[in-house]
This record gives sequence, structure tokens and C-alpha cells, in this order.
Amino acid sequence: MAVALIEFEQVRKAFGSKVVYESLNLEIHEGEAITVIGGSGMGKSVMLKMLIGLLGVDSGTIKFDGEVISNVTQSQLAKVRRRIGMLFQGAALFDSLNVRDNIAYPLLEHGRPTPKEIDARVAECLEDVGLPGIERHKVAELSGGMRKRVGLARAIALRPEVLLYDEPTTGLDPIAVAHIVDLIVELNERYDVTTVVVTHDMPAAFRVSDRIAMIDRGYIIFEGSPDEIRYSDDARVRDFIEGNAPETDDIQTLLRYGG
Ligand SMILES: Nc1ncnc2c1ncn2[C@@H]1O[C@H](COP(=O)(O)OP(=O)(O)OP(=O)(O)O)[C@@H](O)[C@H]1O
Ligand SMILES: [Mg+2]
Repeated sequence: MAVALIEFEQVRKAFGSKVVYESLNLEIHEGEAITVIGGSGMGKSVMLKMLIGLLGVDSGTIKFDGEVISNVTQSQLAKVRRRIGMLFQGAALFDSLNVRDNIAYPLLEHGRPTPKEIDARVAECLEDVGLPGIERHKVAELSGGMRKRVGLARAIALRPEVLLYDEPTTGLDPIAVAHIVDLIVELNERYDVTTVVVTHDMPAAFRVSDRIAMIDRGYIIFEGSPDEIRYSDDARVRDFIEGNAPETDDIQTLLRYGG
């Protein structure tokens, strides 16, 4: 039996009269790579923000490792947050800091490492994302793909058990997409982390996921393996994956995603 590491139970979330989640129910299993798909504005980012406590829930609960983590105190939340790394949509780096100091940020927020310890960990994380030696670079000088990878280096700085990715491939050129997709898979395997990706990029979803869940108008309307979603006959699922699926005769896409 798969162990639920994260559980959303009847989570309701609205902004004013705009209901994002009527009742969100989802279990995320330890060690799996799950992708949550859904159209723009369906609440993918909101889901991740509720999970790390940037947004509260209106009712229902979110559990992590068996404990309720929704609507808890800042200090309880801090304990959870250091176990979860997140790559934000748009990377959310501090432009005024260089690459090293961006990656060092969570280390200083959650502990008192020496400068030497920081340097060692930063170097390791940059190595992990395939960008060794760029510590002194200014964030403003980085390409979109590099920004995402530095954001990922920051997300893994505390060696989290869970990695959350918000639209990791959006806005990147095909080579950078292939790179980040490979990294997601690699980190999931190498560090045995639980991986949660939210995206509307179907090829990326197929490539990284053990399981895919689809959200639509406030509910999870599908959960299953990539093969199960490929052959789902739910019209909403079909519309979504067909609208996003690569052209089968597009050789570059096929090569990139391995068919
Ligand atoms: N802080 C907020 N205040 C008010 N409304 C919000 C807030 N955050 C999100 N929303 C609304 O909640 C809905 C879901 O937003 P969310 O950002 O989660 O969508 P998404 O699925 O991530 O979309 P995209 O694919 O464009 O990133 C949207 O209608 C959005 O306008
Ligand atoms: Mg979003």
C-alpha cells in the first residue's frame, strides 16, 4: 500500500465570491512523482501555496506526514516548510542578490550555517542542477532556463523530502524544457523525494509522472497513471490532453519526450 505523505481533505478555498476549490480531495504518496494538470486559473498555484501555508484554507484540512498543517501557527509551519522545497512559477529569485546568496537564503532562514558550510552546500546544489561555478553571477544576467534551475537549486538547498514545481517548463525554449524535465526525474530518483508538479504541459506531465490528477472547476475530476489518462474517455480530460498533446508527426517533440 502506498503511504499518504500529503493529504488534502475536503479543502474549500474561495477568494470573495470566486470559489477555487469546492472540495479538494487528494492524496500524495511518499516517493511518488505526481503531476496535477488543469487549465489556467483552475487553482494549481493556489493548491501549492495552501500546501506550504502561503495561503490558508477556508475549511477542510491539509495533512503532512499525518499531522494537520493547514491554518497552523507560523512556528509550526516553519517546521513543515523546511521539509518542502518549491520551485515557484517564474522562479521568484531575488534580483538584488547573486546566485550564491539566493541559494543561501533558505539555509540562513532555517539555521546558522558558517560561510564555509554555505559555500559547500551552494556548490553542491548548483552541481545538482547542472550549473556548477555560477555562484557570483547576477540573477538579472541569467536566461529563463538558468533562472528556473537556480530556483530549483534554492528549492533543494535544505535537502527537502518533498519538491513542488509550479509550471516548471512554461516560457522555456525546447532545450531548456528538456533539461528541466530531466532534472525533475533525476532529483526524484536520486534523492528519493516526493515530487509534485503542477502544469498544463502534457508532454512534460507524461514524462515525469507516476500518477496524474486533473483539476477542473473546484474538484479533482481524474486520478490515474499516465496510461489511464491517455485512454480516459472523460470528455473534459480528452479535451484537455488533446489540446495540449504534441503532434504525433512532430519529430522534434517525439525525440524530446521519447514518444
Ligand atoms: N491571492 C489571491 N487573491 C485573489 N484571487 C486569487 C489569489 N490567488 C489566486 N486567485 C484566483 O484563484 C484562481 C486560481 O488561481 P491560480 O493562480 O491557482 O491558477 P492556476 O491554475 O495556477 O493558473 P495558471 O495556469 O495561469 O498559473 C484564479 O481565478 C485567480 O485569479
Ligand atoms: Mg499557476
